[in-house]
Amino acid sequence: MSDEIKRIGVFTSGGDAPGMNAAIRAVVRTAAYSHIDVYGIRRGYQGMIDNDFVELKSRSVANIIQLGGTVLKTARCDDFRTPEGRALAAKNLKTQQIDALVCIGGNGSYTGAMKLYEEHRIPTIGLPGTIDNDLYGTDFTIGYDTAINTACDAIDKIRDTAGSHNRVFLVEVMGRDAGFIALAVGISGGAEAIFIPEQKGEMSQLMDHFKDTSRRTKSFSIVVVAEGDRQGGALAIQDRLETEFDDIDVRTTILGHIQRGGSPTARDRVLASQLGYEAVEALRKGEVSKAVGIVGGEVILTDFEVAIGKSKQVNPDLIRMAEILAN
Ligand code: F6P
Repeated sequence: MSDEIKRIGVFTSGGDAPGMNAAIRAVVRTAAYSHIDVYGIRRGYQGMIDNDFVELKSRSVANIIQLGGTVLKTARCDDFRTPEGRALAAKNLKTQQIDALVCIGGNGSYTGAMKLYEEHRIPTIGLPGTIDNDLYGTDFTIGYDTAINTACDAIDKIRDTAGSHNRVFLVEVMGRDAGFIALAVGISGGAEAIFIPEQKGEMSQLMDHFKDTSRRTKSFSIVVVAEGDRQGGALAIQDRLETEFDDIDVRTTILGHIQRGGSPTARDRVLASQLGYEAVEALRKGEVSKAVGIVGGEVILTDFEVAIGKSKQVNPDLIRMAEILAN
């Protein structure tokens, strides 16, 4: 048990994700329970450099569990990528007497925290906060469940208009270089095809599907496309379909940042609360440079180096199942 920690800093970094506020609340209240002071750092690493700190008490985080976005704001900070930027951040943290950090973010945020420890011995525990679900060391990231529910809801609405016009709709979802969002949204939205970066061959399958007019028994189609898919996104696929077939009416919807907003689902709130609690407990036990996650129902800690270096795989059984169910 580390007796050293009297004050911790908490910050959100990278793209915001629904549930980050629930995580902040859990960190503040768990720390308060153990008589540890908490300072919020606004705009992630940028706030560390700019000296943008705010003291957070238990009551400061009342009424935020249900809010989307992040009350601490977030940023992608180029200055922190430089040794000089990190030195300035470390100096500011030491002036504020902050002994340890909780970082809520993705891979890039973990990398910054790892370097801060290597260079300035400021310990950090990371919480996986990103809608993309692309972090190794946890089955689910904070924000993913809300994002897929938002996208699924949008597809249900698109389905109504697709059906009225007998159109094919390509729906592009976020996920950066990974297909976790697209796969879940495709399955839950009953898509006819799902394009993800981890999988090859969907384009020829889709072409075959429309060439075989006997298979066009369904009067309309929903196709979900991950933004990172190797075809170049939904608009590129629309071009290919329109060039090849003049008898199908195609439309594209790019869902974009709508997937990042909104009130977190109950599942995301529970996950964020649990991980926030565990992060403070890990710091109290003297853990450093590790990400907290839940794998198979168990809370685990993964070294930042491993969490950053390894990539989480999409489940191949789900890909196969989605293909079968789309028939
Ligand atoms: O990592 C979350 C994410 O929403 C990705 O899915 C997307 O590629 C990216 O962030 C968008 O980033 P920005 O909000 O900076 O445009």
